[in-house]
Formats: sequence, structure tokens, C-alpha cells
Amino acid sequence: LNAGATQDYRGEGGELHQVAGGDVPQMTTQGGAPIGDDQNTLKVGPRGPTLIEDQAFREKIFHFDHERIPERVVHARGFGVHGVFETYESLSDITRADMFQRAGEQTEMFVRFSTVAGNKGSADLARDVRGFACRFYSKEGNWDLVGNNIPVFFIQDAIKFPDLIHAAKQEPDRGFPQAQTAHDNFWDFMSLTPEAMHMALWIMSDRTIPRSFRFMEGFGVHTFRMINAEGKSTYVKFHWKPKQGLQSVVWNEALKLNGADPDFHRRDLWDAIQMGDYPEWELGLQLFDDEFADRFDFDVLDATKIIPEEEVPIRVVGKMTLNRVVDNFFQETEQVAFQTGNIVPGIDFTNDPLLQGRNFSYLDTQLKRLGGPNFTHIPVNAPRTEVRHFQQDGHMSMRNPKGRANYEPNSWGGAAGGPREAPRGMYQSFPAEEAGQKRRIRSETFADHYSQARQFYLSQTQTEQQHIADAFAFELSKVETVAIRARIVSHLLNVDEDLAKTVAKSLRLKEMPAPAEAAMPTRMDLKTSPKLSIILN
Ligand code: HEM
Repeated sequence: LNAGATQDYRGEGGELHQVAGGDVPQMTTQGGAPIGDDQNTLKVGPRGPTLIEDQAFREKIFHFDHERIPERVVHARGFGVHGVFETYESLSDITRADMFQRAGEQTEMFVRFSTVAGNKGSADLARDVRGFACRFYSKEGNWDLVGNNIPVFFIQDAIKFPDLIHAAKQEPDRGFPQAQTAHDNFWDFMSLTPEAMHMALWIMSDRTIPRSFRFMEGFGVHTFRMINAEGKSTYVKFHWKPKQGLQSVVWNEALKLNGADPDFHRRDLWDAIQMGDYPEWELGLQLFDDEFADRFDFDVLDATKIIPEEEVPIRVVGKMTLNRVVDNFFQETEQVAFQTGNIVPGIDFTNDPLLQGRNFSYLDTQLKRLGGPNFTHIPVNAPRTEVRHFQQDGHMSMRNPKGRANYEPNSWGGAAGGPREAPRGMYQSFPAEEAGQKRRIRSETFADHYSQARQFYLSQTQTEQQHIADAFAFELSKVETVAIRARIVSHLLNVDEDLAKTVAKSLRLKEMPAPAEAAMPTRMDLKTSPKLSIILN
């Protein structure tokens, strides 16, 4: 219904022209010129040809033709909303991060939940890890905590990420299956990657079919550092605990929901926020120092490991409330560019080789995905603080340096000289001591791939253990190559014998394989040991 309808009319061909008037605004070109007819191109005579001088038409079609941008290489399907973080208590003894200095401090946030493997149009209830990406618009800049709903990851070193994702997404010759763990390539890669076994148990658990985004936990996964004003470093693992509780669906429900409403998760979050039922999560920290870290029999830089909560209890330090949907999905949810590299003074990296690789990857991919170096000018990516630097120009620049100075040091005093560095030593990276040979060998402290997988499995209730066994059986039953099924069972034998037997029985394996070689094979072992032959016959 058009409020300005009094002047609406039908054209010569019967087409409806809705006319501006009253409070109905007039349509314009991108150049702001009024448009008199949006139903017909400019033609010679009643039946054409169309004239190329028709700028309004050309502009409309040109813009439509360029609407699509590349979807994210991973986490393409997601849903973003705004929120606020409230700090419960000052953490000044641990970090100098401004947002953690004052109890009651409120920090604006943008959060995007996602699946990993599915394409932008895939279904919400896929068995998959969920992305849990959080941006804090702090007074000292944007801090992005780009996490997942599972506390560990598939791989230990960033160089394996393209292989992992290639194996998980559609197979390149046939273009299917999409957003599915149920195929040969995925399980082939998993079976040849023992470090993935802890994650394998988590992804076959109910965690990967959450009831909705509102009922998931979130994790920063890597060990990070917090640095206080005296420069002291404390290791930290980040946790998000949903005040709504933790809930999943069962596989049967997931399959039905995917068919009945592939948008189930995004609709749930939209509806909850629109109804004022704002979901909340508390932020928890596990804090420990070098000495404590050295006591673990695994490496805290290994992203396939958790830090047991019995050893390092979680300290709850604040609350996130998601309270506003976006005005426009594309502008905000699609164009948001989270980066692990976006840290603020008081938060710093560790040498986790996965985190180090991520720090390169996000900036790189966003340069392409968002079409140039100025994507931080898009409002959802811009910090809420004033931005001052001498970077300039490039496609779509909205924010060039003002005045004459676009370099420094310079001789133009005061404000005319533009921004200058902070006082000496005030902001610096944590001066961690690093030394050693350059080499490509993985640290032997990363070699235990089964202990935590076993602990996770044993921590589950009997029903949950059954769900894990069922999930392995379902997913592996889609794998055509029997040797791959058997190889996964050989790993499960190192996790839990009963689980391995149950899965083998469901798959009707003719014989039980030997347990997989437990230690990480060295290059030499691979050459000499017939037991480690990994090429399928
Ligand atoms: C998205 C790379 C591991 C969480 C992405 C994107 C890339 C990427 C290229 C797309 C970003 C964009 O287009 O804006 C990598 C690499 C990894 C890695 C190279 C390992 C070496 C992880 C891990 C986590 C994670 C361990 C969780 C702790 C996410 C999330 C997103 C994402 C949540 C979606 C961000 C959004 O909602 O826009 N990753 N990733 N990634 N990654 Fe990673």
C-alpha cells in the first residue's frame, strides 16, 4: 500500500506507477536527480531500441550486477547482532586494558555467530563448529575475540588450515556435499591427522548441534596474554558462559529442523532480541603464569588442548548482553571484518602457531573480500574512538588525514603536524624473549593427541556418550572407503575401547583394526615403518 496513492496511475502498458507525495519520499538516482519513471527504460518509439543515454537504467542495472561480494572462505553463513559488555570488577592487577579497569564499565559490542563449513545459503542445524566472534569497541580501540563454541581446534599449525578446510568443504570434482562432515575427504583428512582426535570427539558430541546460538558456550581457544600497567604478563584462556544454559538438539531434531526451517538459528536470535528477551553470557578467564604452565604435561600453546577447569578455575569478570538487531544485514553482518590481530593495550598474543597464522590470514582475506584497504571505514568496522594516522587514499577512502601533513616526523608544530606517537614505552608488545634455530619441526610437547580426547569422552553422561557413538556411526556410514572408516576406528581405540567397538559394530567392520600409532610419527618413521603406510591400496 502506498501512502501517496492519490496520484498513482497506470501507464500505457498497464504497469503501476506509484507516485511520491505527502510523507512518501521521491526516488532519486545515485547522483540525487529525481526519477520520473522507474517502470520503463528510455526507448526510441514504443518498442525500442533502448537508448544507452538512459543513465537511470544503466546505473540501476550496473549496481545490481555488482551486488555480490565473495563470501567468507570459512564461516560464510553467519548472523550478527549488537550488544554491550559490562565489567564486573577492576582487573587492573592483571591487565591494563581500558575496558577492564572500572567495575560497571559498559563497552559496546558486535557479535557474529556462524557455522564453519557451509556456504552462505546453507542450513543452520548442520553438524558443525559454531563461530563465536566478538568485537569490543573499547575506548582504546577494537578488540576482537574471534572464538568458537568448542574450546579446542582440529589442527596445531596454521599451515594445515587450507587442507582442513578443503577437506571439510565440497569435494572439488563433484561440488558436494556441502556443510557436511559426512564424506570421504573429511574423514580421510581426519584419519591422517591424529592431532584432530580431541576435536573429533567434540564435533561428534551434541555441542555441534546447538539448540540455538543463545544456548552455546564460547571460547577464545588459544592461550593469550594479559599485560598489566607494570608490564607483567599473565596467560589467559577466554570463556563465554550462556546465562540461558547450555542446550543442544538431538540429531533427529536437527535433521527435521534443517528441512522445516533452514534459518532456525538466525530466526531464534532475531525473535528473542525483538521480543526484548536479550541473551546474556558471562565472560570467564582462566589465568595462570609460566611456572604453572610448565607443570602441565601438554603445551599451553597447543590449540588442541584445554586447560582443565579443576586445575585453573574460571574467574567470571563481566557480562555480555545482546540487545539490538542490525539495521541492515549486508552492511553490518556481511561486511564486519573480525581479526585476531585486533588487540588493545593490555591484551597480547602468545606463540601458539595457529594463532600466529590466523593473525596473517584475516587481514589478508578481508582485503580481497571487502574490496580494498579501506574496509575499516565501514561503520561496523570503525572503532568508536577517534582514528588518527597518515594512511591515505585507496579505493573507497572516507577518512584521509586532514590538512597538509601526511607523514611524520614533520616540522609542522601543534595540531598542524597531525598525530604523534604516545610517550616512550607507554604502549609496547610484551617483550617476550625468543631464541632458537629456525626449523620446521613440530615441538614434541605437542605430541599427545589422545589423553584429552579420552578425558572429554569419559566426562560425558551415558546418553551423551551414546550420541557420540551414534554420530560417528552416522557420519562414517556416509564414507564409502572402508579403509578410512577403519582408520578412524583405529584412532578411537586409543580414546576408548568400548566406543571404538560400538562404532566398528555399527559400521559392520569385518575386522577390528590395530590401534593407531600413538606418538606422532617422525619423517624417518614414515619412511621405514610398514605399519605407518598411509597410502590407500
Ligand atoms: C573466519 C582463517 C582458525 C574462528 C575466518 C576467515 C578466515 C579464517 C580466512 C574468514 C574471515 C573473513 O572473511 O572475514 C583461519 C585460519 C585459522 C583459523 C587460517 C587457523 C590457522 C580459527 C580458529 C577459530 C576461528 C581456531 C576459533 C578460535 C573464526 C570465526 C570466523 C572465522 C569465528 C568468522 C568471523 C566472522 O563471523 O566474520 N577464519 N581461521 N578460526 N574464523 Fe578462522
